[in-house]
Amino acid sequence: LQDLLAEGVAGRHVLVRSDLNVPLDGDRVTDDGRVRASLPVISALAGAGARVIVMAHLGRPKGAPDPKYSIAPAAARLAELADAPVTVATDVVGTDAHTKAAALTDGQVLVLENVRFDPRETSKDDDERAAFAADLASLTGQDKGQNTGAYVDDAFGAVHRRHASVAEIAAVLPAYQGDLVKAEIDVLRRLTENPDRPYVVVLGGSKVSDKLAVIDSLLGKADVLLIGGGMVFTFLAARGAKVGASLLEQDQLDAVRGYLDRAERTGVRIVLPTDIVVAEKFDRDAAHEVVPADAMESSRFGSTGIGLDIGPESARAFAEEIVKARTVFWNGPAGVFEFDAFAGGTRAIASALAAATADGALTVVGGGDSAAAVRTLGFDDDAFSHISTGGGASLEYLEGKDLPGVTALER
Ligand code: 3PG
Repeated sequence: LQDLLAEGVAGRHVLVRSDLNVPLDGDRVTDDGRVRASLPVISALAGAGARVIVMAHLGRPKGAPDPKYSIAPAAARLAELADAPVTVATDVVGTDAHTKAAALTDGQVLVLENVRFDPRETSKDDDERAAFAADLASLTGQDKGQNTGAYVDDAFGAVHRRHASVAEIAAVLPAYQGDLVKAEIDVLRRLTENPDRPYVVVLGGSKVSDKLAVIDSLLGKADVLLIGGGMVFTFLAARGAKVGASLLEQDQLDAVRGYLDRAERTGVRIVLPTDIVVAEKFDRDAAHEVVPADAMESSRFGSTGIGLDIGPESARAFAEEIVKARTVFWNGPAGVFEFDAFAGGTRAIASALAAATADGALTVVGGGDSAAAVRTLGFDDDAFSHISTGGGASLEYLEGKDLPGVTALER
């Protein structure tokens, strides 16, 4: 970004890809972390006189306009927080977007409607994505012979997507990396290159299948893996436990057994909970009790009980590992933190990370649900070294995968 600012942006149309994919309750943004994280680059450009056009997605609409996925609430939050005037287009590359883009004056910001309303954004066809990228670039006046447009990729949360506004656009306009993407990658690099030890990784969330690749790569790097969340029941079942009606991915049992064996051979400690909060049903007010993890069906709900959190003994054990660590990466809540009765494990993990941070450890909260969890539970962002804006993106970085949004800029 500094290179672009040094070139001078006054009077130029600059397309910025931001990640404004925020959780909503109706029209209300329930966690504006990604909007806040996007502001510095947008403000720096607008402050330097650029005519800023923000491209972003929200949710996963099916390639057509759908009011449920309108960018409007996220854009409204951006308008509240930004120190520049912000307008919103009602389409992506249609008449409204073109009219409003052409009318921008120096220092003004236009947010396009959800880029995923156009099926070419996420198309598997390279030519379709390239055509959409050209349409987006035309908003800078490029098609009218104005060659002053530029593109800034600041959407760390989407760098792992091979989408037109993330990847192909970099081939059409002079492309620059935004400060958020740079900062995120700088922190994540510290986790992969020589982390201070012990290096403890806490994994949760619902699906093992989402985490297999990262577990695979962490087995060679982390010292301790603490496993909670819905995914833990596949681990417990792989060790022979009966898990009642808890989440269980039968088709991942063999993969999980393989990881447990490999962890033993490589000296990585995989720590599973020893107790579980089992509930009668998936409900905020469900009756529940704490039972040993290897005897979950001994609860009064028998084989229909559902594990919704790690138990207090496990939370203490996880916290002890975390406070001893010098480097911690956490992705995925330990339980259904949205329901008070099942937030204990996630809260204990967040508190332990905060204590480790205060003690000088590098603590990174992976984005998505874990970022929402720490904020919902009332933790300040600065209680941790870094809260990533990218859930899937940070995992794919740690897996060592090619990130289209990064390689497109390198190219
Ligand atoms: C995210 O929420 O992780 C990013 O915004 C990417 O969204 P996606 O998983 O729908 O591509």
